[in-house]
Amino acid sequence: MGKRKALIAGNWKMHTTVVDGCRLAMDVAKACTGYADREILLAPPFTILSEVSHVLEGSPIMVATQNVCWEEKGAFTGEISPVMVKDAGAVAAIVGHSERRQIFFETDEMINSRLKGAVKFGLLAILCIGETLDEREKGHTFQVLEDQLRKGLKTLAPGDMTRVVIAYEPVWAIGTGKTASKEQAQEAHAFIRGVLGRIYEKTVAEQTRILYGGSVKPTNIDELMAQPDIDGALVGGAALDAESFGRIINFR
Ligand code: PGA
Repeated sequence: MGKRKALIAGNWKMHTTVVDGCRLAMDVAKACTGYADREILLAPPFTILSEVSHVLEGSPIMVATQNVCWEEKGAFTGEISPVMVKDAGAVAAIVGHSERRQIFFETDEMINSRLKGAVKFGLLAILCIGETLDEREKGHTFQVLEDQLRKGLKTLAPGDMTRVVIAYEPVWAIGTGKTASKEQAQEAHAFIRGVLGRIYEKTVAEQTRILYGGSVKPTNIDELMAQPDIDGALVGGAALDAESFGRIINFR
């Protein structure tokens, strides 16, 4: 895996209010014991970013948002700016999650703007890409991944890639209990790294972290993390349970 630092991110999606979110963050912090070789992120809903950030003060766990706008401020009803999320304690932002693409019809262009906005204001941007079951069955997986990657990263300078993480999340594996096999995940990650090498250069591709997401659980995290091109995980369902997520961040 070279010198890429592992990153495990918990995506809480539209779950938790103040009390249960703070309790969950506290319990995860208790399960997290001094990791020099890995970074941990929690992505709670916008409404409790500040509270969760306060709860995690003094712990190595950092906070991320589940989405972010590209503008600093203005007439963008319903959106939250990179400056606002930083003000609330976030250091990173997920962009392009398949639920944003599929349920809220976010386009690659919009996702590219969100990513560049996050990077411009100093956040770490986690760009999610992934094929649907139909696309995989038709043999279009690589084409879809390359397309989403190129459009998502459009006009982003090589130097900015230090602030970008890619998350490979096959849509058919999200929330379904159906994890990609370690071979399927490794194959996609190696392909993604190859595309990064073609868009930028080999050193950029070698430095960029690529996370796997889609039904990551305590029972499959170790074998996923043992793959050479898997640098971490984006965890949904299992991140809502401190014991499960605790085991995942303690991967071996
Ligand atoms: P899951 O979600 O772990 O529940 O499959 C992953 C994600 O949507 O990021």
